Amino acid sequence: MPIQYNFDLKNANTLGLPAVASHFLPLTDPAQLFELCQNPGLKALPWRVLGGGSNLVLPEQINALVIAVALKGRRLLREDDEAWYVAAAGGESWHEFVAWTLAQGWAGLENLSLIPGTVGAAPVQNIGAYGVEVKDCLYELTAYSLADGHARVFSAAECQFAYRDSCFKQAEAGKWLIGEVVFKLSKSASIKTNYGDIGQELAALGLPLSASAVAQAVINVRQRKLPDPAVIGNAGSFFKNPVVTAELRGQVLAAHPELVSYPAGPDHYKLAAGWLIERAGWKGRQLGPAGMYQKQALVLVNHGGATQNDIASLTAAVQADVKEKFDVELEAEPVWW
Ligand code: EPU
Repeated sequence: MPIQYNFDLKNANTLGLPAVASHFLPLTDPAQLFELCQNPGLKALPWRVLGGGSNLVLPEQINALVIAVALKGRRLLREDDEAWYVAAAGGESWHEFVAWTLAQGWAGLENLSLIPGTVGAAPVQNIGAYGVEVKDCLYELTAYSLADGHARVFSAAECQFAYRDSCFKQAEAGKWLIGEVVFKLSKSASIKTNYGDIGQELAALGLPLSASAVAQAVINVRQRKLPDPAVIGNAGSFFKNPVVTAELRGQVLAAHPELVSYPAGPDHYKLAAGWLIERAGWKGRQLGPAGMYQKQALVLVNHGGATQNDIASLTAAVQADVKEKFDVELEAEPVWW
């Protein structure tokens, strides 16, 4: 087994944090897990699964076996009157997979264009953008047990998807490696253009309405608003949009009539965390080498040289200010190792 020691992960996390893994293995075949599970030395270590590293806050030293999912492949499994069933391996790039489905003429994932990361990581936090979440098209997935390597198929219902959440962040956290995901891409999928700037961007593009045109509009909007991790380290939205009671939303609204919020189930509202952070004075503001992005206050950026401690200090400072000013608790979205 080609284990590597003291492996540098700085280029393997989009925040660009300095991090070294004591043990590292690129997994190219799920059968490798069986072998790993029979190695007592490796079994004694904690295990961590690494995808595209775009939703992670890494410490400088990681005393663990880091398994980088390098499983590749994508194919049409079957087709019926209703849908195409398309499988992709966990290590495929999410954006390349989406672009490939669109090139085949299969619509459904276009609103999720240009999201960094891998196919296998997408269900873990139920990635979402512009009115669509991955759960809307996910049929089932195959995961491999980190305890003994056995395969288990999870139906979409078993994944327990919620806003930026699934069982893989809750009860099943740390127990599975997602090897393959099957998507059900409906033949009668309707194009969703009603979120924010997408309709406007489509009109500006002047293209006939199609899934590929929506993808192009999404790409343009994301490139305008969100920093490119290759240029400035970031992990996308750093906090979840908080879901609060109608009562708390009413209190904030009374003091700030311009509050941005959306209904989120009976008696609850989702507040725009970017708005709260901006109004708390953090848009474009730095604390040490990390800061909140100038064009989108919800995105935390590494201006160069930040460590996990710097990110933790900034996270705590933003959370404390938003709590003090609005009495709202912000929850960080990425996974911390
Ligand atoms: N807003 C501000 N100030 C800011 C940022 C936003 O006032 O600095 C306001 C905007 O004016 C708008 C509202 O907040 O009225 C929502 O902003 P935006 O449309 O940019 O979306 P978001 O709620 O900030 C969410 C997702 C993004 C996703 C976009 C588009 C979360 C945590 N984030 O952001 O996802 O791309 O919607 O659907 O739900 C990600 O998860 O990494 C991510 C980028």
